[in-house]
Amino acid sequence: MDNSFVLKGDICYSETPTRLACQPNSYLICENGVARGVFPELPEEYRGLPLRDCSGKLIVPGLVDLHMHAPQYAFRGLGMDLELLDWLNTQTFPEESRYADTAYAERAYQALLADLVAGPNTRACIFSTLHLPATKILMDRLEASGLVTMVGKVNMDRNSPENLCEKSAADSLADTRRWLEDSRSYSRTTPILTPRFIPSCTDDLMRGLADLQKETGLPVQSHLSENPGEITWVQELCPDSSCYGDAYARFDLFGGDVPTIMAHCTWSGPEETELMRDRGVYVAHCPQSNTNLSSGIAPVRTFLNEGVRVGLGSDVAGGCHASIFRAMADAVQMSKMRWRLVDDADKALTVEETFFLGTRGGGAFFGQVGSFEDGFEFDAVVIDDAPLLPPYSVEMPDRLARVVYLSDDRHVAAKFVRGKQVK
Ligand code: GUN
Ligand code: FE
Repeated sequence: MDNSFVLKGDICYSETPTRLACQPNSYLICENGVARGVFPELPEEYRGLPLRDCSGKLIVPGLVDLHMHAPQYAFRGLGMDLELLDWLNTQTFPEESRYADTAYAERAYQALLADLVAGPNTRACIFSTLHLPATKILMDRLEASGLVTMVGKVNMDRNSPENLCEKSAADSLADTRRWLEDSRSYSRTTPILTPRFIPSCTDDLMRGLADLQKETGLPVQSHLSENPGEITWVQELCPDSSCYGDAYARFDLFGGDVPTIMAHCTWSGPEETELMRDRGVYVAHCPQSNTNLSSGIAPVRTFLNEGVRVGLGSDVAGGCHASIFRAMADAVQMSKMRWRLVDDADKALTVEETFFLGTRGGGAFFGQVGSFEDGFEFDAVVIDDAPLLPPYSVEMPDRLARVVYLSDDRHVAAKFVRGKQVK
């Protein structure tokens, strides 16, 4: 089988948020796309498999981006003087409306895919736009790339510009059903229901999406408690809800039996945090976006202490950088600012912890993903960190830290997803 093989190199993965397994000069087994563990000597039973020698290189699990917007890739870095709601109105919505034009979508998504393939991420949960043809272009390209992704046609039927607003809840739901029909042929690219956020969706649309979710069992992604102006608006729109998360929960679109990712959660208080913990909602922590849009510093340490599931997101284009290594470094830095400026009980995150969040933490949303332990899907990134090594000798945890803070796509020597080489 061509997706059964052995990689040899300096292998590193998270066992727990605080325990990093480092096995220099070892053998990592991929059998039919599934990891069979890491061994200092190649076990007898695997000696017949092809060996790929990556000696001297670092091998880590593929990185998982739990939240990004494909159509926003084109304007990364622009409008960064604005807060969320103004940025949506002046940058994001005008740009997303261009995806009515399939020729534009082809061009823009080609550039995005080149970047995604070159970087260290292997999986992502992605917002498209409301347009069906452009969403199909995106899904076709993702499928061809070998990456494994969940993609959402966005639902939005209120508080949006006329050229980026579905005419009614019924229209939005009918389009969503057509899109689901058209999305059956993919093996690596699967649909995820995507109400943009509460302000963009009428109650009828939310109820219809909840019915569709029950019918299909599909996962859900949206935004939660990102920015103060947005949170005030949601409270006005849903005066009976006890918190923003409750506004989703009232429509049965907030965890429990519904696999759910909520992006940001920058301002989630104790009630919302408890709700997310009890319902198994995943937080997509997006530190760079939270900085760029002046949203705030998410209480990630509290989420971890309380047992909330957390992964990392680039939130392109709220965040400018697609690489989840960058999100790991940003998450450490933001947590230090929180500790210093907001609450000195919130101990800063370590690189090991954010490496866990960017691999196993987010990977769990996809199943057994984000580790090299026996039975995990085989997603691996081979990193040539020679250009990043200092002149003195360093241990593997320090090599990993250098990669987190300093690496870019040039250091990604090879990348495998479910045992298939994609770079
Ligand atoms: N909330 C609703 N839409 C968006 C979006 O496109 N980006 C971010 N960061 N937050 C949102
Ligand atoms: Fe977002």
